[in-house]
Amino acid sequence: MISILETTLLAISCILCSVLLGFSNAAPTPTYNVVKFGAKGDGKSDSTEAFMKAWQSACANPNPATIYVPKGRYLLRNTNFRVNSQVSHLVINTCNNVVVKNVRLIAPEQSPNTDGIHVERSTGVTINGCTLQTGDDCISIGDATYNLFISNIKCGPGHGVSIGSLGKNVEEKGVENVTLTNAIFSGSDNGVRIKTWARPSNGFVRNVLFQNIVMDKVKNPIIIDQNYCPNNQGCPGQTSGIKISQITYLNINGTSATPEAVTFDCSPSNPCRGIRFQDINLTYMNMAATSSCKNIEGTSSGTLVPESCL
Ligand SMILES: *[C@@H]1O[C@H](CO)[C@@H](O)[C@H](O)[C@H]1NC(C)=O
Ligand SMILES: *[C@@H]1O[C@H](CO)[C@@H](O)[C@H](O)[C@H]1NC(C)=O
Ligand SMILES: *[C@@H]1O[C@H](CO)[C@@H](O)[C@H](O)[C@H]1NC(C)=O
Repeated sequence: MISILETTLLAISCILCSVLLGFSNAAPTPTYNVVKFGAKGDGKSDSTEAFMKAWQSACANPNPATIYVPKGRYLLRNTNFRVNSQVSHLVINTCNNVVVKNVRLIAPEQSPNTDGIHVERSTGVTINGCTLQTGDDCISIGDATYNLFISNIKCGPGHGVSIGSLGKNVEEKGVENVTLTNAIFSGSDNGVRIKTWARPSNGFVRNVLFQNIVMDKVKNPIIIDQNYCPNNQGCPGQTSGIKISQITYLNINGTSATPEAVTFDCSPSNPCRGIRFQDINLTYMNMAATSSCKNIEGTSSGTLVPESCL
């Protein structure tokens, strides 16, 4: 698995924040502080060498490693980080007010579980101008994520942008205030997805806006899947406790790679509420695609191809 990350500017401002290479919930991992490698967070000095050295040292470690970026603005030029990245490439965990700009992440389509950017337990993260070609989610969003703003994204191949999987645990903080605007998905498995385990949980997803999105031969352009239960283990016969509400889909057009472009499969015990569906035009083989709805309440208006099932 070869991946390349090209960054023109990565601006990070947070107090307690770790950007991880490789994702692990395990004990503290070896940490590589870019400042110790000579990076200067003054927004002017070229920190490319320092980031490169920190990255190489982290990659040389056989175990999951942390690249620590202290508060500051770092200028990186025409950088290629070659990482044999396991699981996620860039993890933003427990951060406030992080800006990730103009990042290019490339991994082979066949590489399993190589999320591009994973965000969780973070508030005020902005992701702008990124190109993400991965074997798993382009961007995945975990619990306790608030006020996330994503714009000008190119995604594919890969699994798309996913809120979730959420709700594996009973006790979870929610996801609130997520905007994805101006995005192109090409040949990806999903476009915009919300995915939750079919298990009891007190978590939620609310106030999400997906707008101005073009789909190019995407298998599931718009999908909510609240019945995630891999290998039928740990959840047979259960339903998702995650409450999904105030989700807006606005101005989304292009082509689906399957007949069903819109799939809303919400939890029987916690139906999706306040879903807004407006100005959608998704076709399959030059014909209107189809949509399906389960356990969902909402409104639709404007151009509606496929016809709304709300
Ligand atoms: C979500 O956005 C609303 C409206 O801007 C704001 O009032 C609320 O505090 C935000 N939620 C969080 C958890 O920050
Ligand atoms: C899709 O929308 C974009 C901008 O929102 C527009 O430029 C483009 O022409 C639209 N394409 C189709 C096939 O409707
Ligand atoms: C939807 O997009 C197709 C393909 O670009 C176009 O031919 C059709 O007129 C559009 N339908 C509406 C209702 O805008």
